[in-house]
Amino acid sequence: MSTEANKLQPAFNPGKGEGQAVGLAILGYGTVGSEVLRLLNKHSDSLAQRAGGPIQIKGVAVSDLSKPRAGVDPELLTDDAYSLINREDVDIVVELIGGIDYPRELVLAALKAGKSVVTANKALVAAHADELAAAADAAKVDLYFEAAVAAAIPVLGMLRRSLAGDQVQRISGIVNGTTNFILDAMDSTGATYEEAFAEASRLGYVEADPSADVEGYDAASKAAILASLAFHTRVKFDDVYCEGISKITADDIKAAKAAGQAIKLLATCELITNDSGESEISARVHPTLVNRSHPLASVSKSYNAVFVESEAAGELMFYGNGAGGAPTASAVIGDIVGATRNKVLGGRAPGDNTYANLAIADFGNVRTRYHIDMKVEDRTGVLAEIATICVENNISLRTVRQEQYPTGTRLILVTHTAREADLARTVDIIAASSAVLGVESVIRLAE
Ligand code: HSE
Repeated sequence: MSTEANKLQPAFNPGKGEGQAVGLAILGYGTVGSEVLRLLNKHSDSLAQRAGGPIQIKGVAVSDLSKPRAGVDPELLTDDAYSLINREDVDIVVELIGGIDYPRELVLAALKAGKSVVTANKALVAAHADELAAAADAAKVDLYFEAAVAAAIPVLGMLRRSLAGDQVQRISGIVNGTTNFILDAMDSTGATYEEAFAEASRLGYVEADPSADVEGYDAASKAAILASLAFHTRVKFDDVYCEGISKITADDIKAAKAAGQAIKLLATCELITNDSGESEISARVHPTLVNRSHPLASVSKSYNAVFVESEAAGELMFYGNGAGGAPTASAVIGDIVGATRNKVLGGRAPGDNTYANLAIADFGNVRTRYHIDMKVEDRTGVLAEIATICVENNISLRTVRQEQYPTGTRLILVTHTAREADLARTVDIIAASSAVLGVESVIRLAE
C-alpha cells in the first residue's frame, strides 16, 4: 500500500466487542463533573444502547478528599489522579479540572497510556493542541473536546462532520456568555459597564480571573479551536488578535442603538485572500457593531450563538447555552458516547485535520471597518482637515455625522473596509490633530 493510502486509513485499535463495558475515569468533581456523573447514572441504560456497551465509572479524582461531595459514591473518590488514569480497567479519561499546566500533564499521561480523552478545557486545547493531537495520534486514541466551545451547542461536531464536505468561509461567534450578558444588560437597561459587570458577578457568571471573560481571552481560545477545525490548520491562542469589552461605555451602547446596531463581542474566524492571492486565516476577537437586523444582534443574556458562512451550505446559525453545569455536561457526555463507541467497535475517529496548513494573516493586513466617535472643535475647516487625513491614509468614508452637544461638537465617521493597519494609523493621526479634542471610541463593524 502506498504511503498516501496509509495516511488516509484511520488508525486502528482493536475493539472490545459489542456489549462490552468501557471504563471511565473522571478528573474533577466541580459544577461540570458532578453533572456529568449525575447524567451518566441517570441515563446509564440508554447510554449503553447508544454507545454499544455499558459505560462504567471507575473513579473520580479530586484534589481534596476531606471536602464533602454530594452525588458520588465515596468509594469512587481518589486524590491520586495518575493511579486512576493508569488503571487497567480505565479506557476513557474525562478531564474537567480547568487551568492549563496540571490538566496538560494529566491528559498527556492518559493519552500516552492509551486512554481516549474527553475534555471541556478550551484554554488547554487552544494552547497545546499540537502536543495533545500528536500524543493521541501516537497512541491511536480519541481526543474529543466538544464542550470546550459554546458548551451545549454542537459546533465542533458540525465543523468536523456535518460540514466536512463544505468550505467554511467565515465564522462569527458570540462564544462568551459573560460578556454577552454584560453588553446585553447595558443595551437593554442603560446600565454602565461597571453596573452590568457587578450584576454578572453577583449571578456567578464571571470567571475567577475576570480578564478571561472581559478582556476576551476565553473567546480567543474558542476562536483558535473554531478556526483550526474550520480551516484545517493549527491555529493557537497566540494567533488570535484579542480585544475585550472593558472600555465599552454606556454612551457607546446608546450611540449604537440610535444607529440601529448592537455591540457584541464577536469571535471572527475568516478565510481571506492576501495581496499575493494566497489564502490566509484571520482569527480575532473584539467588540463589533452588528446591525440589529442580523440574527447575532438578538442573542441576549448569557446565550451563545455561532453564525457560519460556507460555500455550499450558505448561512447557518447555532444558538444555545454556552456555559453551566448541565449544558456543558451534555456536550461532554456526547463525546463520552462517541469515544465509547470507538472503543467498543475498534478504531478511532479521525484526528484534527491540519492538512491545509494555511498562514495566519498579520492583523495589520486584515480588512476591517471602523466606527470612530470623536469630539472636535466647532470651527470652519475641521471636517476638511479630517477628510484629508483619511484620504492621505487610503481610508474611504462611508458616512459622516456631526452632532451638537452642550459640551461640544461630536463627529462620527464610519469608514469603508480598509487595511486594519491603515485604519489604526489614521485614528492615531486624527487623535493628534489640532482640530480634534478627543477620540471617544473606535469600534469595528461586522462585515
Ligand atoms: N466564562 C465562560 C463564558 C464560560 O462566560 O462563556 C464558558 O466557557
